[in-house]
Amino acid sequence: MTLAIIKPDAFGSGKAGRVLAALEDAGFRIRGSRVLRLRRAGAEAFYAVHRERPFFGALVEFMTSGPCMALALEHDRAVPYLREVIGATDPAEAAPGTVRALYAESKERNAIHGSDSDENARAELGFFFGQVDLIESA
Ligand code: RTP
Ligand code: MG
Repeated sequence: MTLAIIKPDAFGSGKAGRVLAALEDAGFRIRGSRVLRLRRAGAEAFYAVHRERPFFGALVEFMTSGPCMALALEHDRAVPYLREVIGATDPAEAAPGTVRALYAESKERNAIHGSDSDENARAELGFFFGQVDLIESA
């Protein structure tokens, strides 16, 4: 299981359905979903690893700028496969057909987040979902 977020740029411009379709077409099963607006403290905690980076303030502003959709996604190779399907951070460098190549506006407003390790996926799933919210794998 891994964690994706349809970020405020894509959610706010009405692309959530298209992003969900791309994820399902890629073979992911949706095991949890939640629409919410992150508060400043939540966004700072979620991206705490980037606290010292020059883009941190802008990233927190962006992630709190409107609602987003958190997703728990299941696949045999969930973490590395989601990273492949979403593409490079900068849509200009993302492979054709990836979610970011299709729907991202810029390196910052890049449509979707995906956990980058199994350990971070567990922590990030726990950040957005309680045990009662997630459907067991088949
Ligand atoms: P994410 O964590 O959201 O899945 O993205 P990522 O691993 O591909 O990229 P990461 O290095 O973790 O950066 C987190 C998010 O910060 C924004 N960012 N802006 N302006 C910039 O140079 C810059 N660099 C990163 C993006 O929204 C990126 O996804
Ligand atoms: Mg990252």
